[in-house]
Amino acid sequence: MATSPIAGASPGPFAITRTRIFLLVSLALTWWFASLFPHYKPAIQAQFRARLNEAIMKLPSIKVDWDTSVDLHDAYNASKVAIIIEPRPLPHLVPHILYMMNVVPPEWRFVFVGSKESVTGMEQAAAVRHWQMTGKLDLMVLPEPWEIDSKEKVFRTLTDIRFYDEFLPGVEWLLKYEADSILCANSEASLNDWLSWDFVGAPRRADDHFAGNGGLSLRRVSTIRRVLGFQARLNDSDPEDEWFGKRVYVLPGAKVASGVEEALAVEDVYREGVMGFHVRDGGNNLADGVWRPKEQRKRIFQYCPELTMIMDMKLERERCPEDRGNGLMG
Ligand SMILES: *[C@@H]1O[C@H](CO)[C@@H](O)[C@H](O)[C@H]1NC(C)=O
Ligand SMILES: *[C@@H]1O[C@H](CO)[C@@H](O)[C@H](O)[C@H]1NC(C)=O
Repeated sequence: MATSPIAGASPGPFAITRTRIFLLVSLALTWWFASLFPHYKPAIQAQFRARLNEAIMKLPSIKVDWDTSVDLHDAYNASKVAIIIEPRPLPHLVPHILYMMNVVPPEWRFVFVGSKESVTGMEQAAAVRHWQMTGKLDLMVLPEPWEIDSKEKVFRTLTDIRFYDEFLPGVEWLLKYEADSILCANSEASLNDWLSWDFVGAPRRADDHFAGNGGLSLRRVSTIRRVLGFQARLNDSDPEDEWFGKRVYVLPGAKVASGVEEALAVEDVYREGVMGFHVRDGGNNLADGVWRPKEQRKRIFQYCPELTMIMDMKLERERCPEDRGNGLMG
């Protein structure tokens, strides 16, 4: 008898047989096993990454050749900080700080304390952002209630021990400089030659017993703390450098610079080969003894041409005919 394949005993493709159940179960088991080992996923990621790398390789690139095993922050000495407090968004702040970073020994860090305006202005510069990333430079807007928008408020800040606790922890040597002070690259001395001094700046007179003018000065924070530990500055009294000066000078064991030869900077009294200058009020309030003699002025600019960065300059040929070049006319 002929049997049709459909009606016959031979099973159709969807018929359930023991063999098929076995196959289905083993397939399910295989998938389940596979799901226990999620190794196929990283394989896909690796493939993706390889393709991404390939794409990146095709982009024009700059070769960055630094050693990433060195933590850049380790390159700096946490106890040495150069600080500038400047709320005005002056146009020369960026080149000025970049230059100062070059002449101050490399292990020093820099702190710029500013207003929102001056800090925002600084942050526009890619070079500034670069130094921020490496840990060399910090830009700060002090939180409330700190204020720096007048000289008196800066004096209050610098004579408040909490400023050192909160913003300069671990700092022992503080180079305080201003937008109108500068170190001279021609100086044979290094800032590190002054580390044993407690407070050293510029003398106010040739016979000054204490070169404490603070526009460009190096202070030891432990000494500052000693002074602030027993005395508080009255508001609207002496400028902070004079106030500290009077007290550091009489502090037992303190090493302070006296006279012209030991000074770190020139402001009111000239000395050849000095490490730096503070030109009061950006050059609008110059000391006659330093700047009036024409030959001396020429020597100063030859020795420290960087001064042109912080002073308003006028070309020789722009001089009025009756100007005798010594600050007097006619
Ligand atoms: C930081 O500098 C001071 C003074 O030069 C030095 O005594 C100290 O050992 C330095 N610290 C580090 C971590 O290098
Ligand atoms: C000095 O000024 C600060 C604000 O800058 C104020 O908090 C403090 O009370 C003032 N001190 C005195 C003694 O008036």
